[in-house]
Amino acid sequence: MNERKKDNSATDTTSNVMEKIVSLTKRRGFIFQGSEIYGGLAGTWDYGPLGVALKNNIKSLWWKRFVEERDDMYGVDAAILMNEKVWEASGHVGGFSDPLVECNKCKKRFRADHLEDKSKCLECGWELSEERQFNMMFETQVGAQGDTKSYLRPETAQGMFVNFKNIVDTMRPKLPFGMAQIGKAFRNEISPRDFIFRTREFEQMEIEYFIDEKDWEKQFEYWLREMRKWISDIGLNKKKVNELEVPGDDRAHYSKRTVDFEYDFPFGVSELYGLAYRTDYDLSKHAEHSGEKMVYRDADGNEYTPHVIEPTFGVDRTVLAVLSDAYTEDEMGGEKRVYLKFTQELAPIKAAVFPLLKNKPELVSKAREVYEMLKKDVPQIMWDDNGNVGKRYRRQDEIGTPKCITIDFDTLEDDTVTVRDRDTGEQERVNIIELSKIVSV
Ligand code: GAP
Repeated sequence: MNERKKDNSATDTTSNVMEKIVSLTKRRGFIFQGSEIYGGLAGTWDYGPLGVALKNNIKSLWWKRFVEERDDMYGVDAAILMNEKVWEASGHVGGFSDPLVECNKCKKRFRADHLEDKSKCLECGWELSEERQFNMMFETQVGAQGDTKSYLRPETAQGMFVNFKNIVDTMRPKLPFGMAQIGKAFRNEISPRDFIFRTREFEQMEIEYFIDEKDWEKQFEYWLREMRKWISDIGLNKKKVNELEVPGDDRAHYSKRTVDFEYDFPFGVSELYGLAYRTDYDLSKHAEHSGEKMVYRDADGNEYTPHVIEPTFGVDRTVLAVLSDAYTEDEMGGEKRVYLKFTQELAPIKAAVFPLLKNKPELVSKAREVYEMLKKDVPQIMWDDNGNVGKRYRRQDEIGTPKCITIDFDTLEDDTVTVRDRDTGEQERVNIIELSKIVSV
């Protein structure tokens, strides 16, 4: 049976779609405003049970793809707090800043490069100050005396560069090889905006891939292809992704070539990921500032400083792009419905199990049996016995559950169940022993 009629999502205005995503993710336990009961804290968001499941699925898939399935990648989990000299050496103390202007009357601050008219305050219309550079690192004090200055890291990358020597000494890797890390990063953004797109605390998945300088163009092309593959595997619509060759003036201080992967978010086209050729900038700077040798010794005994290609992926921007792409409205069975068209791998819940009627103990106990059996193989399974089956389908559609499994009176006779598909609404009769295969990734 196919209940599906028509798709009408294209008729929505973009801000409307964004509002609907924010509202759905709050209502269904994906993402909440940070510190909400105290009025929030700008630029912070909290992930609820479904949001954290989605985010963990993204991170596990990334780790599997880029670390576990490869022989040339070394995972690390470095401390967020690092010696302040790391950030002096990396150039962040001197140069990790955005241009800031301030209203001379209401004191509201804006990022100058985001303003169309730099002469007037967007809030009160008064004149704005001269532009100045604002460093985005969060400073902190370490220790009981508070006399040791540190920063919350603004990128995970430096945790890898400072461990380069440890990896070379302990793992004896062959060039080219990479280091990979997933973790939090913090930036005191002047104007956090667009839900989880630009926040002050976020997560990154980064790779520092160490190469021989002469191979940098070949390696850059290789990583472009790897990033394209990743984008397609997480289900993003290729037509919404644009590759931007970042001009010299706009590149970070360490980069000789950068390509930004932009995504057509509901609020407009903006950066999703980046690929940068960081040369030997970071390793050389750390060698200079720490006095340690940051070199690789090849089979002939030659020592040299490798160059680096850096693919970087924002976790939260991935979540937002995946949500934006997955958000769909259509009509099914004569009713409007909203569903999230997640891939099977990313869906926070892989299947929901229902007893047809919740007041029939024999159905409930058989459904419990099926639920327990599936949960052993696939933990992301949900139990639902609230309301009628139609309502349960709609609830599961809204959180993107690919399959709903209903246990009815026939199940008690022949061990078959109804499996209903989220996207088409089609239902098929399946034997219980086939279920694990159907719901596993
Ligand atoms: N290590 C290189 C680096 O940090 P970046 O372009 O500044 O480069 C990398 O950041 C990625 O981190 C971005 O492509 C984006 O996905 C994510 N990101 C950066 N700032 C962010 C913010 N304020 N909120 C959410 N994600 C952010």
